[in-house]
Amino acid sequence: MSHRIVAAAHPNLALVKYWGKRDSELNIPANSSISVNLDGALTTTSVAFDPSLPEDRIFLNGEPANREAYCRVSGHLDRIRELAGINDRALVESGNDFPTAAGIASSSSAFAALSLAGSRACRLDLDEKQLSILARKGSGSAARSIPGGFVEWEAGDSDQTSFAFQLAPPGHWDLEICTVVLDSRPKRFSSAEGHMAAGTSPFYRARLETLSRTLDLVRTAIRDKNFSSLAPAVEREAISMHAVAITSLPVSAWMSGLYYWMPETLDLIQSVQQWRENGLDVCFTIDAGPNVHLLYEGKDRGRLEAELEPLIARLGAYTIFSRPGNGAWILDE
Ligand code: DP6
Repeated sequence: MSHRIVAAAHPNLALVKYWGKRDSELNIPANSSISVNLDGALTTTSVAFDPSLPEDRIFLNGEPANREAYCRVSGHLDRIRELAGINDRALVESGNDFPTAAGIASSSSAFAALSLAGSRACRLDLDEKQLSILARKGSGSAARSIPGGFVEWEAGDSDQTSFAFQLAPPGHWDLEICTVVLDSRPKRFSSAEGHMAAGTSPFYRARLETLSRTLDLVRTAIRDKNFSSLAPAVEREAISMHAVAITSLPVSAWMSGLYYWMPETLDLIQSVQQWRENGLDVCFTIDAGPNVHLLYEGKDRGRLEAELEPLIARLGAYTIFSRPGNGAWILDE
């Protein structure tokens, strides 16, 4: 049996979203994106290759992986085996300390941790760029959980030019993220379905045309730690992605568009706008699920919690607080 390697990674939250693929085999995105790692949530994954195993054995959160997850993880192990030139099957155990597949980008931390643990377990020594490229092929957003802090994923146009790099380290800015979990069940529509349908929206091209300006605004706001320019850019960007989702044609003919939101999602959006009108510097973003991520600076946490508390109770939600987190790392080898 090879060394058992344990790696950890945080999920990341996209401030500028990846929505739509140029190449769905390689996960080359239609546009560049920007994210921040969430240190309040963690995936831990161990990998050991073992020549005596007849097939990969994969456990997720203590249970044998279902067929879909098994194929995805085993397919990623194939990429690692090919890079290392080995054929051994592997034992993989992975766990999240947060709800899986509920718009908290669990696939980002999962494939980042798997790429790092898997490549080390077969003694590949990949640098950050190569790891990001490998993680991307498991799940696009995983490319961004390899580097730490604030991260940009350069879309590129080929396997070797599409990878993520750090814009600023975790301690650069005292930005906090409060994830409001409105529904922790796995989402009904995967982001893969959303990516696939995106191009059918009449607003897709318009969104892509605005993105280079949005990327500039967000990059600069992070560099200057300027919350008042970050907030409107991040919020409009999230709305733009969801506008495309809602107006795209999913594969299921009975659906008129992809609604990731729940009524409570809109409730929270409107509360955020009200809080802002009352002078609290906060903004929201939403990924491919109903949950809402609130961004604010550390100095405003007390005020935010006070506003949030009655709402959380009314909506039956719970919260996960994060600061910008590190990139993927080895826990044990
Ligand atoms: C809405 O990375 O989950 O979270 O590459 O098909 O695995 P695949 O998609 P995935 O898509 C993430 C979509 C998003 C936006 C983002 O994280 O940028």
